[in-house]
Amino acid sequence: MAPKSLRIEIRGRVALLTLNRPEALNALNSEMMDEVCDTVAKYGTDDKIGAFVLTGSEKAFAAGADIKEMQPQGYMDMYMSDFFNRWNELAALRKPVIAAVSGYALGGGCELAMMCDFIIAADTAKFGQPEITLGVIPGMGGSQRLTRAVGKAKAMDLCLTGRMMDAEEAERAGLVSRIVPAGELLETALAAAEKIAGFSLPATMMAKEAVNRSFEVTLEEGLRFERRLFHSLFATEDQKEGMSAFVEKRKAAFKHR
Ligand code: HXC
Repeated sequence: MAPKSLRIEIRGRVALLTLNRPEALNALNSEMMDEVCDTVAKYGTDDKIGAFVLTGSEKAFAAGADIKEMQPQGYMDMYMSDFFNRWNELAALRKPVIAAVSGYALGGGCELAMMCDFIIAADTAKFGQPEITLGVIPGMGGSQRLTRAVGKAKAMDLCLTGRMMDAEEAERAGLVSRIVPAGELLETALAAAEKIAGFSLPATMMAKEAVNRSFEVTLEEGLRFERRLFHSLFATEDQKEGMSAFVEKRKAAFKHR
């Protein structure tokens, strides 16, 4: 069945996923979560796909979790359904994912962008964790990932006041990797994804794994982990190809193995 809240386009080795609930500023509901996670599961193990771009509309990447879906729920409903836990499947994806953010990325929308490996923002982007204004707190990782990305001062400011920050402030704070004019957002994100997808897939997967590991272990353990991954890449055909291509002054043709 075709997804209702998501558009999927395969462009070469890149899967472009576009959140598509314009009537609700792409508010995240359970149906959209299942559609995104099913898609990610499908292409996550497909060697023909080397990177993902996750984007929304010009006005909103996503204006948060769907408040209308959450409003009638009680504690037992949330607990027993482990509400929104499935989004973790996106965060656990082993291949690189770029968030291309234009307009609002609020609450769960900001948290979803932070589950991606890096964020490219349009100059119109606005980030925030406004859950406090609804009587709750972030529930998809905002208090943890935002704090790791921007530090305690700004994370506390955003989570406690519910205010939004614009793209400039988000870049200064280290939340986004680059800002581009809104009209160039998608082509910039797709070009970056295409570039990544053209490199050796095991190498990009291990690069992602190594960087993410730095959040979990000591420096010494992290360095050891990186070195083991680095050594292991010398068992790939792509290392032979990449280094031979450099020596022979030609472009590498990676086989992604
Ligand atoms: C449901 C939403 C929504 C949301 C917008 N809409 N955000 N519906 N959930 N999060 C709907 C509106 O109800 C409205 O529908 C339509 O989208 C357009 O929104 P407007 O408010 O009319 O647009 P605008 O005036 O431009 O204001 C944009 C906005 C505002 C500033 C982004 O919509 C807003 O504050 N939205 C809520 C943001 C928020 O609090 N997000 C955090 C949610 S909690 P109708 O039918 O009226 O036209 C969360 C928790 C995550 O994310 C953790 C989960 C585990």
